[in-house]
Amino acid sequence: MVTRCRLGIVLALLILAGALPAQEPAMTPEEMANFLLKAEVINSRHTTKGVTSPYRLTMRLGNVTHDAHFQPVDETRPTREFTDGSVELNFRDSYKYNIAAYQLSKLLGLDHMMPVTVFRKWSGMSGSMAWWLPVKMDEGERKRKKLEPPDKEAWGQQMHRKRVFAELVYDSDPNLTNVLIGEDWKIYMIDFTRAFRLRGELQAPRNLERCDRNLLEKLRQLDAKGLAASTKGYLTSAEVKAVMQRRDKIVAHFEQLIKDKGESAVLY
Ligand SMILES: Nc1ncnc2c1ncn2[C@@H]1O[C@H](COP(=O)(O)OP(=O)(O)O)[C@@H](O)[C@H]1O
Ligand SMILES: [Mg+2]
Repeated sequence: MVTRCRLGIVLALLILAGALPAQEPAMTPEEMANFLLKAEVINSRHTTKGVTSPYRLTMRLGNVTHDAHFQPVDETRPTREFTDGSVELNFRDSYKYNIAAYQLSKLLGLDHMMPVTVFRKWSGMSGSMAWWLPVKMDEGERKRKKLEPPDKEAWGQQMHRKRVFAELVYDSDPNLTNVLIGEDWKIYMIDFTRAFRLRGELQAPRNLERCDRNLLEKLRQLDAKGLAASTKGYLTSAEVKAVMQRRDKIVAHFEQLIKDKGESAVLY
């Protein structure tokens, strides 16, 4: 009895120290969203990685305790100069794009690759509140440690989905700490605060080599009205228009690739 109790305390301490992953509660995306909207914040700290240093909150609702990522950044500047000397006009860095990206991922059937994300106010700030993912490492760490995923085909298929999505939303900050790796080498996409630029062009169409069949179909079906409705308050009409222009380019790009290489070389 005493031993079992001690074991419980040791396990709890290991989980708190981050040495062991906490058991993920079995919840649907709707239940996660409800949790994020209603749970009480019982602890807060800043995340250890990243640029804007958002918050990692511990939250509780009923008998569920779980962490969440809270990102309140919402900046607009006429110009912004980066360390590499490049200058971006109409620079925006906003939590609103995290919410818009999640809404768009739902329309495309890619939401299983992102944390459930909602709008919430906390501690006097408005921001995006996202489910804290069961992450083993990020892509930067994987590369540093030269770790290879055991199933290269499955890994590649996830990466192709990620690339298509990054082009669609024009993610101007696609760095390696924004690609998280969970159980069984599952890839998650996070941090879209610098996405949704107003350009109708793709950044690097040459990186779009293959596409999930289902995703291509969903891209064809995506319509401006539906996108505007599900991202109301988070994307302007100009931002929606730019997504649709890039959608047209992605679809045309894959249609051309299929013509050149044959469907089985492009779609999976
Ligand atoms: N939902 C999440 N689940 C687990 N870890 C996360 C989550 N969101 C962010 N992180 C971690 O926090 C870091 C910083 O968050 P991020 O949204 O990328 O902000 P920024 O890069 O602007 O500081 C990420 O690189 C990642 O390590
Ligand atoms: Mg980041």
